[in-house]
This record gives sequence, C-alpha cells and structure tokens, in this order.
Amino acid sequence: MANRPYARFRIDVPKDLALVRWLLGALAQGSSGAGELDGDASLAVLSAAAEKGLVVTNETDPGEAAPFACDLDDPTLLDLVPEASRAGSAGDGADLVLNPACVVQAEDTLPPALVGRVRVDPSLRARTLSDDPVRNHVRTPLAGLPQGLGPLRDGARVWVQHPVMGLWQPFEASTPLAHRLRRIADGELAPACLPAAVRARLVLAHVLGPPASFDGAAREARLAAMRASLAKDGVVVLRSLVSPLLLAALRKHYRGLERAGYLETDRAQVKDGRDGIYCEFAGLLLQDQLARLINRIVPTPVKPSYCWFFKYRPSAVLWRHTDRAQNRWNVSFAVDAHPHMDESSAWPLFMQVGDEAHAIRLGAGDAVLYSGTETPHWRNPLPAGQTASMCLLHYVDEHFTGSLG
Ligand SMILES: [Fe+2]
Repeated sequence: MANRPYARFRIDVPKDLALVRWLLGALAQGSSGAGELDGDASLAVLSAAAEKGLVVTNETDPGEAAPFACDLDDPTLLDLVPEASRAGSAGDGADLVLNPACVVQAEDTLPPALVGRVRVDPSLRARTLSDDPVRNHVRTPLAGLPQGLGPLRDGARVWVQHPVMGLWQPFEASTPLAHRLRRIADGELAPACLPAAVRARLVLAHVLGPPASFDGAAREARLAAMRASLAKDGVVVLRSLVSPLLLAALRKHYRGLERAGYLETDRAQVKDGRDGIYCEFAGLLLQDQLARLINRIVPTPVKPSYCWFFKYRPSAVLWRHTDRAQNRWNVSFAVDAHPHMDESSAWPLFMQVGDEAHAIRLGAGDAVLYSGTETPHWRNPLPAGQTASMCLLHYVDEHFTGSLG
C-alpha cells in the first residue's frame, strides 16, 4: 500500500494455520481465496488478515457505485474508523451488553418494531427529488445511481439505535453473525465469547456497549444540554453524530461515488471549490433519521427540505452569508478530511452570534446544528493540500409550504 510502511510480523503455526492456508491460496490464485472457507472461519481469518494489513479497503477500483451498506463482517472498514474511536473499542468484553434498541430484519419488509421509525426507498426518493428546479445546478439523480439500501443479502440487516442521538443505523450481517447476535439477545452467548475483532466492530457499531452507554437518563441529560446550548449560543455541536463504524461506511460510500464520477462541481456558491451530489440516498436516510433528534432540540417542529454531500477542494472559500428559507435549520456533518483532522485542527466554520464570531471545528463524525436563515456563517480558505467532506442536511418548519428543493 502506497500510504503504509512495510511491516514484519510473525505467523504462529499451528495457531494461525487457517490464515497461512488462506494466504498461500490467495497468493496462488491472485485473489482473496476467502470463498474457500466456511462462515465463521472466514470471518476469523479475514479479521486476522486485516489486523496484519494483508487485506485493506478497496479504494482504487473505480467500479460501479454500490448501494450504501455498512457490513458488520467487513474487517477492512476499520481502516476508515478514526484512530481515537478505534482505541476505545478494545477490551475483554466482560462489561459489554447488547444495545436494547437493536432490531434484526430478516426479510425484505421492515419488522413491525421499525414501522414509523425508519423510512427507506422509495418513500425518501419520492418525497425529496420530486420538485426542484429553482436552481440550475440542482438536478435529478444521475443514471445508475443506487437508490435505497439494496436487497437483503444472505444474512440479515441489523438496525441499531444511536444511544444518544436516537437515529436508527442500518448494518448488514452475515448469517453466522446474525445467529450469534440472536444467541446474545437470548442470553445463550456472552459478548466476551466473541472473537476480539468481531466484538470490536460491534462496539464501534453501537451493537454492544457498556450498560451505562444505554442509560436513558444520561441521554435525556445530553439532550437538555443541547437545548441549552442552542438557547444560549444559537448553535449546538453534536459530537459523534453516528457510530464510528457507520461513519467508516459513509466515508467508503462517498469515496466510491467520487471515483465512479457522481460528484458534480459547484459553479455557484463555492465556485469551482467543491464537488457534490444532491439528495443522494445515504444523505436522505441520515437527514430523515436526524429530523427526530432535531425536533427534540429546536423550539418548533421541523421537516427535511434538501441535502448535499460536498467534498471541498484546497482553497475553497464560503463567503459570509445567511441562507434562503429552505435552510431554516442546517446540520453540517463532517464525514471525511484529508489529511485527517481532529476537533482541534479541523477547518473552522465561523458563525456570527451577537457581537462574537464563533469558530466551530468538527472532528470526523461530528456535526453542528444552527439556523441558516438567522445566523451569518462563513469559512475562510481551506489550506493548501487539504480536503474536507461533509453532508449538509437542511430542514424547514413543519408547516413550510414552499419548494423543498
Ligand atoms: Fe449557508
């Protein structure tokens, strides 16, 4: 890998015999060879191979854009999880429990527990993309762009509620993993008995966590603090808006859309300074799920208007402005940055609150909520050599009757 130093490691035979067999097979065949292994063995071997850097996320194959998916069995997603989050997922698993808001979907239709809580294609697409055409750079989806989450694969889709933000996050699980999750739910399997690499991914997905992380009172206290922040400063920073594993999948997804040529260059507001995609499914899903959170924070009910994913180029500038009515409330969600930036070094979004200019810095996975129509905001030039990618999710008052585009 161009961005990784060479590393030496020992393979312990016979403990790692399966890994050796896989590696020899892959070298002989010029492919992963993982298909020769059965379910559980395949998971363990791929995890071990990923840990040693023998398999990595495929970021070079332009290929076709795939439907958004966050695969709980994919060890290479760890490469895209911010390092600070990865460190927190270690441990022996003794203190872990299953997220009580975890619903397994085994068929194409949503389970009853999710009806009214989760909306997926086609309702999201029909609602948001049906009217545009106020601005000429807003257009209908490009041919071949995947809509929706795609059909269920062999295993199951696991919907997991964020313990603080409340959004329902979809994950794909293989049949063996879905079976393990059911056994954990039934009390037949302790999380500590899972392979460490699998357990770590489940923690990063919010499927497992310490009991205190699922405490409803703590969640209500965080929401109260968010409301207080909005009332005092006109802005709320939402740290870790989605689970680290979902963030990794979003990064992979949007990098894939860019490679497949789906991002178009902004010729208007940030002229030639950013490339983006309008009302794409993953953004719509996030926007729809976050509406519930925003309605717990802002004083009057809202509904989604439109959304963008944008990747900002070096030197991009966002001049000081306030937004049109479709941006009554904005969420800017930091998905990706190159090089990696944490919350102390990230490209700041400035906001004028009273006499003061606030600099909001978002680490990967953080977001900010503010009123686009009331709060002047801007960004100074993005330094040379840096890019920053974010989802911009917009909301209007519930009774707003204008165009949502
Ligand atoms: Fe704006």
